[in-house]
Amino acid sequence: MKQPGSGIAIIGSGSAVPATSLDNVGLSRIVDTSDEWIASRTGIRQRRLANPTLSLAKLAAEAAQAAIDQANLAPTEIDLILLATSTPDDLFGTACLVQAELGANRAVAFDLTAACSGFVFGLVTAAQFIRTGVYQNVLLIGADILSRWVDWSDRRTCVLFGDGAGAVVLQASDRDRLLSFELRSDGTQNHYLNLAFQPQPKEMVDDIAIGQGNFHPITMNGQEVYRFAVRRVPEVIEKALFRANLSTAEIDWLLLHQANQRILDAVGDRLKIPHEKIISNLAKYGNTSAASIPLALDEEVRQGKIKPDDTIVTAGFGAGLTWGAAIFQWGR
Ligand code: UT7
Repeated sequence: MKQPGSGIAIIGSGSAVPATSLDNVGLSRIVDTSDEWIASRTGIRQRRLANPTLSLAKLAAEAAQAAIDQANLAPTEIDLILLATSTPDDLFGTACLVQAELGANRAVAFDLTAACSGFVFGLVTAAQFIRTGVYQNVLLIGADILSRWVDWSDRRTCVLFGDGAGAVVLQASDRDRLLSFELRSDGTQNHYLNLAFQPQPKEMVDDIAIGQGNFHPITMNGQEVYRFAVRRVPEVIEKALFRANLSTAEIDWLLLHQANQRILDAVGDRLKIPHEKIISNLAKYGNTSAASIPLALDEEVRQGKIKPDDTIVTAGFGAGLTWGAAIFQWGR
């Protein structure tokens, strides 16, 4: 028997992107590429880029404040802040900086890293705290400034990524709006997509050496990641649909991590979900990693396309490798 209030409602969304945008023509002045190649292979036309003074915390807090406002809450009513990111301002954690920025002084705050699956993994993590009755109001943010870590001389990766942030507020509710989920990880395929620390040995005293160094820019095997996404994402969605006892015909929107238009279309085709139900904004923003799902969600909500009670299938996939799907209904 469920306790009253042990369900989850998603009651607000917000997003923020840097003001500066770089289109494909601009990018072709940096690497040997073209608007035609990028648009036809990925659907991406431009991406937003954070200037050197824009922190991840500031970008995340802007998206978060918009979500809190839409939820009609005050920052002091937030119990927990989860920041899904792979590009923190501080490796010790950036969620606390967001908490301070918002003045959400009652909230516990921590980072969660699952790359482009970060938002879906965060949604499920937030749900556990609500379902156990521990917290009432949870702020979940997906934010990334991948431009910090892209190799801007590698045309196979640099054309894909952009910067942004998106957020949602989840609240304990009698009516449970998170219908099902399915999460997966496979570290044996980690090497296909990396932003890895590369230690240099440093001698200390006697026989003691440690590793110090830096993170090296993103490396990716695009074809393998493509294959993985098109195969694995429909599987987890089908599993989540089965758990929710829903057919694809009962789904209003397919909201996938915005990595590549060809991946969105291929997943939609495999699931027999018509293209008009597939949400896509990657032409404007590229792949914004943990931000991509909540950023697209917020745009559709604010444009009135996603309406209260609409049933949404969302799925994230990427480095780890990680992937996962969740099915939820929008609104209180
Ligand atoms: O969050 C998850 C993140 N990652 C992904 O979602 C990536 C998934 N993978 C993909 O989206 C695609 O694999 C890419 C868009 C990255 C690449 O598309 P592709 O159709 O798999 O291209 P390819 O790697 O097979 O390359 C085809 C050709 C190659 O030339 P050759 O060897 O056939 O002469 C590349 O050198 O295209 C060339 N190429 C480019 N040409 C112009 C690769 N990148 C570019 C570029 N501009 N930016």
